[in-house]
Amino acid sequence: MNGPQTDIDKTYINVALFTLKQIVGRTFPNPPVVCVIVESSYTLTDHKIVSFGLTSFTGRPHAEANAIESINYKKNKFYTLYSTLEPCSHQGRSESCVSKIISSGFINRVIFCTLDPDKRVNGKGKKKLIDNNVIVDHGIMKNSASKIYEGYFLNRKKKRPKVILKLAISMDGFISFKENIRSKITNRMTNQYSQIIRSEVDGILVGSNTVKVDNCILNCRSPGLKKFSPVRIILNRSLDLCLNLKIFKDCSKQRTIIITQNKDLEKHRKYLNRNIEVRYITPKKYNLRNILEDLSSIGICNLLVEGGAKIFSSFIKENLFDEIFLFRGNFFIGDGGLNAVNSEKNNFLSKKKFSIRESIRFGNDSLEILDSLKKNNQLDSKNVFGNN
Ligand SMILES: NC(=O)c1ccc[n+]([C@@H]2O[C@H](COP(=O)([O-])OP(=O)(O)OC[C@H]3O[C@@H](n4cnc5c(N)ncnc54)[C@H](OP(=O)(O)O)[C@@H]3O)[C@@H](O)[C@H]2O)c1
Repeated sequence: MNGPQTDIDKTYINVALFTLKQIVGRTFPNPPVVCVIVESSYTLTDHKIVSFGLTSFTGRPHAEANAIESINYKKNKFYTLYSTLEPCSHQGRSESCVSKIISSGFINRVIFCTLDPDKRVNGKGKKKLIDNNVIVDHGIMKNSASKIYEGYFLNRKKKRPKVILKLAISMDGFISFKENIRSKITNRMTNQYSQIIRSEVDGILVGSNTVKVDNCILNCRSPGLKKFSPVRIILNRSLDLCLNLKIFKDCSKQRTIIITQNKDLEKHRKYLNRNIEVRYITPKKYNLRNILEDLSSIGICNLLVEGGAKIFSSFIKENLFDEIFLFRGNFFIGDGGLNAVNSEKNNFLSKKKFSIRESIRFGNDSLEILDSLKKNNQLDSKNVFGNN
Protein backbone atom coordinates (compact mmCIF):
# COMPACT_ATOMS: atom_id res chain seq x y z
CA MET A 1 0.00 0.00 0.00
CA ASN A 2 1.44 3.33 -1.03
CA GLY A 3 0.46 6.99 -1.48
CA PRO A 4 -2.27 9.01 0.20
CA GLN A 5 -5.72 7.50 0.85
CA THR A 6 -7.20 10.97 0.57
CA ASP A 7 -10.59 10.72 2.31
CA ILE A 8 -9.45 8.55 5.18
CA ASP A 9 -6.26 10.54 5.62
CA LYS A 10 -8.15 13.85 5.58
CA THR A 11 -10.54 12.58 8.23
CA TYR A 12 -7.78 11.62 10.67
CA ILE A 13 -5.68 14.70 9.94
CA ASN A 14 -8.79 16.80 10.64
CA VAL A 15 -9.20 15.06 13.99
CA ALA A 16 -5.58 15.94 14.80
CA LEU A 17 -5.99 19.56 13.65
CA PHE A 18 -9.16 20.02 15.67
CA THR A 19 -7.29 18.92 18.78
CA LEU A 20 -4.26 21.04 17.86
CA LYS A 21 -6.29 24.24 18.20
CA GLN A 22 -6.90 23.41 21.87
CA ILE A 23 -3.20 23.27 22.77
CA VAL A 24 -1.73 26.26 20.93
CA GLY A 25 0.22 28.38 23.43
CA ARG A 26 0.15 25.58 25.99
CA THR A 27 3.33 23.65 25.11
CA PHE A 28 6.01 26.32 25.60
CA PRO A 29 8.88 26.15 24.72
CA ASN A 30 8.09 23.54 22.06
CA PRO A 31 5.56 23.77 19.22
CA PRO A 32 2.22 22.07 19.81
CA VAL A 33 1.77 18.82 17.88
CA VAL A 34 -1.04 16.29 17.79
CA CYS A 35 -0.56 12.69 16.62
CA VAL A 36 -3.22 10.13 15.91
CA ILE A 37 -2.24 6.50 15.36
CA VAL A 38 -4.67 4.50 13.26
CA GLU A 39 -4.72 0.71 13.10
CA SER A 40 -6.05 -0.90 9.94
CA SER A 41 -5.81 -3.91 7.70
CA TYR A 42 -3.12 -3.75 5.01
CA THR A 43 -5.83 -2.81 2.49
CA LEU A 44 -7.08 -0.02 4.76
CA THR A 45 -10.63 -1.35 4.54
CA ASP A 46 -11.20 -1.13 8.27
CA HIS A 47 -9.53 1.45 10.43
CA LYS A 48 -9.73 2.84 13.92
CA ILE A 49 -7.84 5.23 16.20
CA VAL A 50 -5.74 3.30 18.69
CA SER A 51 -3.78 6.16 20.19
CA PHE A 52 -3.70 9.94 20.60
CA GLY A 53 -0.60 11.86 21.53
CA LEU A 54 -0.30 15.55 22.34
CA THR A 55 2.83 17.55 23.08
CA SER A 56 3.04 17.63 26.86
CA PHE A 57 2.15 20.93 28.52
CA THR A 58 5.77 21.46 29.55
CA GLY A 59 6.93 20.88 25.96
CA ARG A 60 8.21 17.33 26.60
CA PRO A 61 7.68 14.46 25.90
CA HIS A 62 6.67 15.20 22.32
CA ALA A 63 3.35 14.11 20.80
CA GLU A 64 4.83 11.18 18.84
CA ALA A 65 6.44 9.72 21.94
CA ASN A 66 3.21 10.09 23.91
CA ALA A 67 1.20 8.41 21.13
CA ILE A 68 3.58 5.50 20.57
CA GLU A 69 4.13 4.77 24.24
CA SER A 70 0.59 3.68 24.97
CA ILE A 71 0.20 1.12 22.16
CA ASN A 72 0.04 -2.66 22.23
CA TYR A 73 0.48 -3.29 18.52
CA LYS A 74 -0.54 -6.40 16.60
CA LYS A 75 1.81 -7.98 14.09
CA ASN A 76 -0.83 -8.56 11.39
CA LYS A 77 -2.06 -4.96 11.38
CA PHE A 78 -0.98 -1.84 9.50
CA TYR A 79 -0.28 1.37 11.40
CA THR A 80 -0.45 4.96 10.16
CA LEU A 81 0.76 7.82 12.33
CA TYR A 82 -0.96 11.10 11.47
CA SER A 83 0.80 14.21 12.70
CA THR A 84 0.11 17.91 12.38
CA LEU A 85 3.83 18.66 11.90
CA GLU A 86 6.84 16.87 10.43
CA PRO A 87 8.34 14.65 13.17
CA CYS A 88 11.62 16.04 14.52
CA SER A 89 14.84 14.32 13.55
CA HIS A 90 17.44 16.05 15.72
CA GLN A 91 18.66 14.61 18.96
CA GLY A 92 17.73 16.90 21.83
CA ARG A 93 17.61 15.97 25.50
CA SER A 94 15.83 12.78 24.43
CA GLU A 95 15.55 10.53 21.37
CA SER A 96 14.17 12.30 18.27
CA CYS A 97 10.59 11.56 17.22
CA VAL A 98 11.76 10.05 13.94
CA SER A 99 14.05 7.64 15.83
CA LYS A 100 11.17 6.79 18.16
CA ILE A 101 8.91 6.02 15.20
CA ILE A 102 11.56 3.86 13.53
CA SER A 103 12.64 2.03 16.67
CA SER A 104 9.03 1.33 17.68
CA GLY A 105 9.08 -1.14 14.77
CA PHE A 106 5.37 -1.02 13.97
CA ILE A 107 4.60 2.31 12.27
CA ASN A 108 4.28 1.56 8.54
CA ARG A 109 3.25 4.97 7.32
CA VAL A 110 3.50 8.59 8.46
CA ILE A 111 1.24 11.38 7.17
CA PHE A 112 1.79 14.96 8.28
CA CYS A 113 0.36 18.35 7.30
CA THR A 114 3.43 20.47 6.86
CA LEU A 115 7.22 20.38 6.92
CA ASP A 116 8.78 21.83 10.06
CA PRO A 117 10.43 25.19 9.19
CA ASP A 118 12.97 24.68 11.99
CA LYS A 119 16.32 24.38 10.20
CA ARG A 120 17.29 21.38 12.32
CA VAL A 121 14.31 19.42 10.96
CA ASN A 122 13.09 20.90 7.67
CA GLY A 123 12.78 17.87 5.35
CA LYS A 124 15.33 15.83 7.31
CA GLY A 125 12.64 14.09 9.36
CA LYS A 126 10.84 13.07 6.20
CA LYS A 127 14.06 11.81 4.54
CA LYS A 128 15.11 9.73 7.53
CA LEU A 129 11.71 8.03 7.66
CA ILE A 130 11.80 7.22 3.94
CA ASP A 131 15.40 5.94 4.26
CA ASN A 132 14.08 3.56 6.90
CA ASN A 133 11.28 2.19 4.73
CA VAL A 134 8.45 4.13 6.31
CA ILE A 135 5.89 5.37 3.76
CA VAL A 136 5.61 9.15 4.03
CA ASP A 137 3.15 11.66 2.68
CA HIS A 138 2.62 15.31 3.60
CA GLY A 139 0.80 18.45 2.54
CA ILE A 140 -2.69 17.27 3.55
CA MET A 141 -4.65 20.21 5.05
CA LYS A 142 -1.44 22.21 4.87
CA ASN A 143 -3.17 25.60 4.75
CA SER A 144 -5.34 24.89 7.79
CA ALA A 145 -2.29 23.70 9.70
CA SER A 146 -0.21 26.70 8.65
CA LYS A 147 -2.87 29.05 10.07
CA ILE A 148 -2.79 27.30 13.42
CA TYR A 149 1.01 27.29 13.35
CA GLU A 150 1.21 31.00 12.44
CA GLY A 151 3.07 31.91 15.63
CA TYR A 152 5.50 29.00 15.35
CA PHE A 153 6.21 29.72 11.68
CA LEU A 154 6.79 33.43 12.38
CA ASN A 155 9.15 32.43 15.17
CA ARG A 156 11.22 30.13 12.96
CA LYS A 157 11.05 32.08 9.69
CA LYS A 158 10.94 35.75 10.83
CA LYS A 159 12.49 35.46 14.27
CA ARG A 160 9.52 37.07 16.00
CA PRO A 161 6.40 35.74 17.67
CA LYS A 162 2.87 36.32 16.49
CA VAL A 163 1.86 39.53 18.28
CA ILE A 164 -1.67 40.00 19.60
CA LEU A 165 -2.57 43.34 21.18
CA LYS A 166 -5.27 43.10 23.84
CA LEU A 167 -6.98 46.35 24.76
CA ALA A 168 -9.99 47.19 26.88
CA ILE A 169 -11.57 50.50 25.89
CA SER A 170 -14.61 52.58 26.81
CA MET A 171 -17.31 53.38 24.23
CA ASP A 172 -15.37 56.51 23.36
CA GLY A 173 -12.07 54.66 22.99
CA PHE A 174 -10.18 55.36 26.23
CA ILE A 175 -8.25 52.75 28.21
CA SER A 176 -8.36 54.59 31.53
CA PHE A 177 -10.21 57.51 33.22
CA LYS A 178 -6.92 59.38 33.27
CA GLU A 179 -3.17 58.84 33.27
CA ASN A 180 -1.64 56.75 36.05
CA ILE A 181 -4.98 55.44 37.26
CA ARG A 182 -6.17 51.85 37.22
CA SER A 183 -9.65 51.75 35.65
CA LYS A 184 -12.21 48.98 35.46
CA ILE A 185 -13.38 48.96 31.86
CA THR A 186 -14.95 45.54 31.30
CA ASN A 187 -17.37 43.21 33.11
CA ARG A 188 -16.70 39.87 34.84
CA MET A 189 -17.64 37.74 31.87
CA THR A 190 -15.17 39.60 29.68
CA ASN A 191 -12.47 39.33 32.32
CA GLN A 192 -12.97 35.57 32.51
CA TYR A 193 -12.67 35.29 28.74
CA SER A 194 -9.44 37.30 28.94
CA GLN A 195 -8.05 34.56 31.17
CA ILE A 196 -8.72 32.03 28.42
CA ILE A 197 -6.89 34.20 25.90
CA ARG A 198 -3.92 34.39 28.28
CA SER A 199 -3.91 30.61 28.60
CA GLU A 200 -3.49 30.27 24.81
CA VAL A 201 -0.28 32.29 24.48
CA ASP A 202 3.33 31.66 25.49
CA GLY A 203 3.98 35.14 26.82
CA ILE A 204 2.32 38.37 28.03
CA LEU A 205 4.20 41.63 27.57
CA VAL A 206 3.52 44.93 29.37
CA GLY A 207 5.24 48.26 29.91
CA SER A 208 6.73 49.15 33.29
CA ASN A 209 4.10 51.78 34.01
CA THR A 210 1.21 49.31 33.72
CA VAL A 211 2.93 47.13 36.30
CA LYS A 212 3.37 50.15 38.59
CA VAL A 213 -0.10 51.65 38.15
CA ASP A 214 -2.24 48.49 37.90
CA ASN A 215 -0.13 46.33 40.22
CA CYS A 216 -1.29 43.48 37.97
CA ILE A 217 -0.34 39.80 38.36
CA LEU A 218 -0.79 38.70 34.71
CA ASN A 219 -1.57 35.05 35.39
CA CYS A 220 -4.46 32.72 34.58
CA ARG A 221 -6.59 32.64 37.70
CA SER A 222 -9.67 30.76 36.47
CA PRO A 223 -9.97 27.22 37.84
CA GLY A 224 -8.26 24.70 35.57
CA LEU A 225 -6.25 27.32 33.70
CA LYS A 226 -3.58 28.10 36.31
CA LYS A 227 -1.07 25.69 34.80
CA PHE A 228 -1.31 27.56 31.50
CA SER A 229 -0.17 30.90 32.93
CA PRO A 230 2.25 32.29 30.33
CA VAL A 231 5.70 33.79 30.73
CA ARG A 232 5.41 37.42 31.95
CA ILE A 233 7.58 39.98 30.22
CA ILE A 234 8.04 43.55 31.43
CA LEU A 235 9.81 46.29 29.47
CA ASN A 236 11.73 48.38 31.96
CA ARG A 237 14.79 50.15 30.59
CA SER A 238 16.03 51.53 33.90
CA LEU A 239 15.38 48.38 35.97
CA ASP A 240 13.70 50.32 38.74
CA LEU A 241 10.59 48.28 39.52
CA CYS A 242 9.85 47.78 43.19
CA LEU A 243 10.11 44.18 44.37
CA ASN A 244 6.96 44.58 46.47
CA LEU A 245 4.77 44.66 43.38
CA LYS A 246 2.30 41.75 43.20
CA ILE A 247 3.75 40.49 39.93
CA PHE A 248 6.98 39.57 41.74
CA LYS A 249 5.27 37.56 44.49
CA ASP A 250 5.69 34.01 43.15
CA CYS A 251 8.12 34.10 40.26
CA SER A 252 9.32 30.58 41.04
CA LYS A 253 5.90 29.37 39.82
CA GLN A 254 5.52 31.62 36.76
CA ARG A 255 8.52 32.59 34.66
CA THR A 256 8.96 36.36 34.81
CA ILE A 257 11.34 38.37 32.65
CA ILE A 258 12.39 42.01 32.75
CA ILE A 259 13.98 43.37 29.59
CA THR A 260 16.28 46.23 30.42
CA GLN A 261 19.07 48.49 29.17
CA ASN A 262 20.57 48.66 32.63
CA LYS A 263 23.64 46.47 33.01
CA ASP A 264 24.29 47.14 36.68
CA LEU A 265 24.93 43.57 37.94
CA GLU A 266 24.12 44.51 41.53
CA LYS A 267 20.65 45.50 40.39
CA HIS A 268 20.31 42.34 38.27
CA ARG A 269 21.17 40.22 41.31
CA LYS A 270 18.42 41.84 43.36
CA TYR A 271 15.86 40.49 40.89
CA LEU A 272 17.60 37.19 40.21
CA ASN A 273 17.45 36.43 43.93
CA ARG A 274 13.67 36.55 43.61
CA ASN A 275 13.64 34.22 40.54
CA ILE A 276 13.07 37.12 38.16
CA GLU A 277 15.04 36.75 34.94
CA VAL A 278 16.73 39.91 33.69
CA ARG A 279 17.58 40.13 30.00
CA TYR A 280 19.93 42.91 29.05
CA ILE A 281 19.82 44.61 25.65
CA THR A 282 22.25 47.43 24.88
CA PRO A 283 20.68 50.91 24.59
CA LYS A 284 21.61 50.96 20.90
CA LYS A 285 19.75 47.72 20.22
CA TYR A 286 16.86 48.30 22.62
CA ASN A 287 13.91 48.46 20.22
CA LEU A 288 10.78 46.34 19.72
CA ARG A 289 12.18 44.36 16.79
CA ASN A 290 15.21 43.22 18.78
CA ILE A 291 13.08 42.59 21.85
CA LEU A 292 10.77 40.36 19.78
CA GLU A 293 13.77 38.56 18.31
CA ASP A 294 15.11 37.95 21.80
CA LEU A 295 11.75 36.56 22.96
CA SER A 296 11.56 34.42 19.86
CA SER A 297 15.00 32.95 20.70
CA ILE A 298 13.67 31.60 24.01
CA GLY A 299 10.73 29.94 22.25
CA ILE A 300 7.93 32.51 22.52
CA CYS A 301 5.70 31.94 19.47
CA ASN A 302 2.47 33.67 20.55
CA LEU A 303 2.77 36.94 22.46
CA LEU A 304 -0.09 38.86 24.04
CA VAL A 305 0.65 42.56 24.50
CA GLU A 306 -1.47 43.94 27.34
CA GLY A 307 -0.50 47.59 27.44
CA GLY A 308 -0.37 50.31 28.42
CA ALA A 309 -0.80 53.26 26.10
CA LYS A 310 2.89 53.83 25.33
CA ILE A 311 3.43 50.16 24.59
CA PHE A 312 0.33 49.92 22.36
CA SER A 313 1.47 53.07 20.55
CA SER A 314 4.92 51.65 19.90
CA PHE A 315 3.63 48.34 18.52
CA ILE A 316 1.05 50.02 16.29
CA LYS A 317 3.42 52.72 15.09
CA GLU A 318 5.98 50.11 14.07
CA ASN A 319 3.31 47.85 12.56
CA LEU A 320 4.51 45.01 14.76
CA PHE A 321 1.26 43.21 15.41
CA ASP A 322 -0.85 40.56 13.73
CA GLU A 323 -4.14 40.75 15.60
CA ILE A 324 -5.96 43.00 18.04
CA PHE A 325 -8.43 41.77 20.64
CA LEU A 326 -10.45 44.91 21.26
CA PHE A 327 -12.77 44.67 24.27
CA ARG A 328 -15.25 47.49 24.66
CA GLY A 329 -17.02 48.31 27.92
CA ASN A 330 -20.49 49.80 27.88
CA PHE A 331 -19.84 53.37 29.12
CA PHE A 332 -18.23 56.66 28.13
CA ILE A 333 -15.22 58.20 29.85
CA GLY A 334 -15.24 61.63 28.21
CA ASP A 335 -12.71 64.42 28.69
CA GLY A 336 -9.46 63.56 30.38
CA GLY A 337 -9.49 59.88 29.42
CA LEU A 338 -6.25 58.14 28.50
CA ASN A 339 -6.13 57.37 24.80
CA ALA A 340 -5.58 53.74 23.83
CA VAL A 341 -2.86 54.96 21.55
CA ASN A 342 -1.01 58.23 21.55
CA SER A 343 -3.25 59.18 18.66
CA GLU A 344 -3.53 62.93 19.07
CA LYS A 345 -0.05 63.37 17.72
CA ASN A 346 0.07 60.50 15.30
CA ASN A 347 -3.52 59.55 14.53
CA PHE A 348 -2.55 55.90 13.88
CA LEU A 349 -6.00 54.51 14.52
CA SER A 350 -7.69 56.26 11.67
CA LYS A 351 -5.10 55.00 9.23
CA LYS A 352 -7.01 51.91 8.06
CA LYS A 353 -4.65 49.41 9.59
CA PHE A 354 -7.27 46.83 10.62
CA SER A 355 -10.09 44.67 9.34
CA ILE A 356 -12.73 43.17 11.65
CA ARG A 357 -12.63 39.37 11.59
CA GLU A 358 -15.08 38.52 14.34
CA SER A 359 -17.43 40.19 16.83
CA ILE A 360 -18.57 38.58 20.08
CA ARG A 361 -20.77 39.93 22.91
CA PHE A 362 -20.22 39.39 26.62
CA GLY A 363 -23.38 40.85 28.15
CA ASN A 364 -23.07 44.60 27.61
CA ASP A 365 -19.43 44.34 26.60
CA SER A 366 -18.22 43.47 23.13
CA LEU A 367 -15.11 42.00 21.63
CA GLU A 368 -13.88 42.67 18.13
CA ILE A 369 -11.03 40.60 16.77
CA LEU A 370 -9.13 42.65 14.25
CA ASP A 371 -6.57 41.52 11.74
CA SER A 372 -3.67 43.70 10.78
CA LEU A 373 -4.19 44.74 7.15
CA LYS A 374 -0.50 44.24 6.60
CA LYS A 375 -1.34 40.56 7.11
CA ASN A 376 -4.27 40.11 4.72
CA ASN A 377 -4.29 43.26 2.58
CA GLN A 378 -8.01 43.78 2.98
CA LEU A 379 -9.24 47.36 3.20
CA ASP A 380 -11.52 48.57 5.91
CA SER A 381 -12.02 52.26 6.38
CA LYS A 382 -13.73 51.93 9.75
CA ASN A 383 -12.08 53.72 12.64
CA VAL A 384 -12.67 51.03 15.23
CA PHE A 385 -11.61 53.11 18.23
CA GLY A 386 -14.22 55.77 17.52
CA ASN A 387 -12.52 58.68 19.29
CA ASN A 388 -10.44 60.20 16.50
N1 LIG B 1 -7.49 49.26 29.37
C1 LIG B 1 -6.44 48.59 28.97
O1 LIG B 1 -6.49 47.74 28.07
C2 LIG B 1 -5.14 48.84 29.67
C3 LIG B 1 -4.13 47.87 29.63
C4 LIG B 1 -2.92 48.12 30.26
C5 LIG B 1 -2.73 49.34 30.89
N2 LIG B 1 -3.73 50.26 30.92
C6 LIG B 1 -3.51 51.57 31.57
O2 LIG B 1 -2.46 52.23 30.86
C7 LIG B 1 -1.77 53.09 31.77
C8 LIG B 1 -0.28 52.83 31.63
O3 LIG B 1 0.12 53.16 30.33
P1 LIG B 1 1.42 54.07 30.07
O4 LIG B 1 1.38 54.50 28.65
O5 LIG B 1 1.50 55.10 31.11
O6 LIG B 1 2.61 53.07 30.35
P2 LIG B 1 3.02 51.65 29.73
O7 LIG B 1 2.77 51.65 28.27
O8 LIG B 1 2.43 50.59 30.55
O9 LIG B 1 4.57 51.62 30.03
C9 LIG B 1 5.39 52.52 29.36
C10 LIG B 1 6.80 52.32 29.78
O10 LIG B 1 7.28 51.08 29.24
C11 LIG B 1 8.69 51.20 29.04
N3 LIG B 1 9.10 50.90 27.68
C12 LIG B 1 10.20 50.18 27.37
N4 LIG B 1 10.31 50.04 26.05
C13 LIG B 1 9.29 50.68 25.49
C14 LIG B 1 8.89 50.91 24.15
N5 LIG B 1 9.55 50.41 23.12
N6 LIG B 1 7.78 51.63 23.94
C15 LIG B 1 7.09 52.13 24.97
N7 LIG B 1 7.44 51.95 26.26
C16 LIG B 1 8.53 51.25 26.53
C17 LIG B 1 9.03 52.65 29.38
O11 LIG B 1 9.43 52.68 30.71
P3 LIG B 1 10.95 52.37 31.17
O12 LIG B 1 11.60 53.69 31.17
O13 LIG B 1 10.76 51.75 32.49
O14 LIG B 1 11.53 51.47 30.17
C18 LIG B 1 7.72 53.37 29.27
O15 LIG B 1 7.67 54.54 30.04
C19 LIG B 1 -2.31 52.78 33.14
O16 LIG B 1 -3.25 53.79 33.50
C20 LIG B 1 -3.02 51.46 32.99
O17 LIG B 1 -4.09 51.33 33.87
C21 LIG B 1 -4.93 50.03 30.34
